[in-house]
Amino acid sequence: MPRLKVNRFRARKPPADVLAFYLRVYNTRDLYFDPESLPPLSPQELFGSAQPVVFDLGCGRGEFLIGQAAEHPDINFVGFDLHWKSLWDAINKSRRAGLQNVRFVRTDYRRAFAKVPDGSVQAAYLLFPPPIIEPNRQKEDPLPPETVHDLARTLPDGAPFHLVTDHPGFFAAKTALIEETGRFERVHTSQAFEGGLTWYQQLWESLDIQSLRVEYRRRPAGG
Ligand SMILES: C[S@@+](CC[C@H](N)C(=O)[O-])C[C@H]1O[C@@H](n2cnc3c(N)ncnc32)[C@H](O)[C@@H]1O
Repeated sequence: MPRLKVNRFRARKPPADVLAFYLRVYNTRDLYFDPESLPPLSPQELFGSAQPVVFDLGCGRGEFLIGQAAEHPDINFVGFDLHWKSLWDAINKSRRAGLQNVRFVRTDYRRAFAKVPDGSVQAAYLLFPPPIIEPNRQKEDPLPPETVHDLARTLPDGAPFHLVTDHPGFFAAKTALIEETGRFERVHTSQAFEGGLTWYQQLWESLDIQSLRVEYRRRPAGG
């Protein structure tokens, strides 16, 4: 059965000053050919703070991230996505909620990790990524081995990585990949995601499709 297309929604482009506050754009070509021209995606650059940040990789319209940011004003959150309209929607919602502790990055997060300093991410979420595992679609794979290694590098010891998907094949392939690295310990597996609502979780639950959730902790190097 083909997967549902759920991109049909309206979003107004936010005003320039709002974009300047909430949005950073990291062009994939620049990340590849001229990474030195781009500032680091560090807590200091994004928030003027040394405190590690929380990443939402493929944040979509930002429901999860915005909910978390409102609940934890003392923690800084960064949402990554490539889809302009989703980002505009997330930024408009953040602005309306008056959030100061959120930024969005328009980029391919897999490439953008090159600009993320070691140990600077206190938690990372990958919630309902496109479940691509076919060998002929590797370019679109949302969690290739390089990204698993980048997560191991940028999360400090003991920091969590959460993966949630509705797709059993993707879940099996990616948990195997993560565990092969030896860098993550599985601490929790369940069939729901209780950590906050995402748009896709609401969609799948309304269709009675279960989510598969796993939480890992980053193992100490050599541990
Ligand atoms: C199925 S949606 C899930 C959105 C959100 N996490 C949720 O649960 O509601 C997947 C999102 O990941 C984004 N995405 C997929 N691959 C990406 C990549 N390599 N870099 C940035 N965003 C990506 C898509 O644009 C889309 O918004």
